[in-house]
Amino acid sequence: MAMQDLVIYGAGGFAREVAWLARSIEGRWRVAALVDDDPAAHGRTINGFPVMGLDAARAAFPQAALTAAVGDPALREKLVGRAAAAGFGCATLVHPRVEMSEWVEVGEGTVVCAGNLLTTNIVLGRHVQINLDCTVGHDVVMGDYTTLAPGAHISGWVHFGRGVYVGTGAVIINGHEGVPLTLGDGAVVGAGACVTRSVAAGTTVVGVPAKARG
Ligand SMILES: CC(C)(COP(=O)(O)OP(=O)(O)OC[C@H]1O[C@@H](n2cnc3c(N)ncnc32)[C@H](O)[C@@H]1OP(=O)(O)O)[C@@H](O)C(=O)NCCC(=O)NCCS
Repeated sequence: MAMQDLVIYGAGGFAREVAWLARSIEGRWRVAALVDDDPAAHGRTINGFPVMGLDAARAAFPQAALTAAVGDPALREKLVGRAAAAGFGCATLVHPRVEMSEWVEVGEGTVVCAGNLLTTNIVLGRHVQINLDCTVGHDVVMGDYTTLAPGAHISGWVHFGRGVYVGTGAVIINGHEGVPLTLGDGAVVGAGACVTRSVAAGTTVVGVPAKARG
């Protein structure tokens, strides 16, 4: 594929990490700009990349694709919507140091960072974000806008709804064939939790074993 401009929506720490990710895919992306909605940030540079508003980035880089570099699923969905309304198409980014089989489907706009290992019969929806060093086992389905923070471990037969957030170092044990362990839309798993049972939509669970926060 030809080299293409990339605009990163977000100007925080993860945006800088995504800039590195994109540049690690040799010959594919030229990081053109970081977008910050705060006008006070415009005109600055971060790690050598100019910071600008969304419309200015669209005008300056009309051929660019965009990636939304924020971990929060709801905010990411909002930013992707704004970017689409401004006319941007989205970039799908997979770091070269990711191992996955040919039986993994990666949805449009999804970002998979360095060090991840995804095995087989896995479906990642659109705009999913898998941060550093996670493992994802067989027969896992992730709904759009789901986020895995660094070092999460997902066992086989687990189904995620839309916009689920899994914190750093969390573990989700396996479901079973025909009876997946499920995490409903908007569920949140705290850092370091061990999820042993399905989690209802919109529920936050923490601890080992994970329990709904009272
Ligand atoms: C679970 C989580 C979402 C809760 O966030 P919050 O609603 O802001 O919670 P608070 O910080 O107000 O803490 C509320 C209580 O839950 C406890 N708590 C928070 N996170 C916890 C966790 N991961 N495990 C166990 N207990 C936790 C706090 O100690 C506090 O207990 P207290 O009331 O007895 O003092 C958050 O703490 C978390 O784990 N986020 C993941 C962060 C992460 O992985 N970031 C990666 C960035 S790349």
